[in-house]
Amino acid sequence: MIVKVLGISGSPHRHGNTETLLDAFLKGAGDAGAAVEKVVLKDLDYAPCRGCNACHKTGVCIVEDEAPPLFDRIFSVDCIAVASPIYSMGITAELKGLIDRAQYIWARKFVLKTLYFPDEHIRRHKGIFISTAGLSWDNVFDAAFPAITAFFNTLGFEYYDNIIANNMDLYRGIRGHPTALAEAREKGVQVVRVIEDLKERSGTG
Ligand SMILES: Cc1cc2nc3c(=O)[nH]c(=O)nc-3n(C[C@H](O)[C@H](O)[C@H](O)COP(=O)(O)O)c2cc1C
Repeated sequence: MIVKVLGISGSPHRHGNTETLLDAFLKGAGDAGAAVEKVVLKDLDYAPCRGCNACHKTGVCIVEDEAPPLFDRIFSVDCIAVASPIYSMGITAELKGLIDRAQYIWARKFVLKTLYFPDEHIRRHKGIFISTAGLSWDNVFDAAFPAITAFFNTLGFEYYDNIIANNMDLYRGIRGHPTALAEAREKGVQVVRVIEDLKERSGTG
């Protein structure tokens, strides 16, 4: 069965550094034979989590907007590539807003205990974090990682890899970076091969 990859762009800046890096990854995945789609969060209509905790009783989010259908889409793919630039040392409001809206899935797992992802499922579902930052600091992505880890854990995706490029100010954008775009493309190819292999071995391929 064909590998499905969904890119989720959390940058409000269309075709900027982060979305371009995401596109390079998706190009590699597509070239390797995957079915590739991309969602741009800034074009989606969804509200922040209200913290009403209704989902702790029902497992369903009471806010009817475009977030729950996106989670349905996420559950239909083998790989998600979640992209955000670093804003104020963290992820963008667009992406954080979406991550918080996954609370109803967290509630199904940990409050209601109606949802469980076996280890085998998690191994076959890969999550990749893609990010760019202006500064050269080595630790500029550190505050983003825990939120991404929590997101992938909630969704039952293994946190497979990071594709990150700092120092965008110096390089004057991702196209000025000597290796980032080629590496992202190569990682797109590789992850599809890894998932194909896992699917074949588990008999779901
Ligand atoms: C509101 C805002 C906040 C930012 N905060 C940081 C920051 O804290 N650290 C950093 O290294 N770069 C910061 N940057 C720079 C961006 O991370 C960098 O330019 C990134 O490559 C932009 O990606 P994009 O083209 O996808 O928007 C910030 C940029 C904006 C617009």
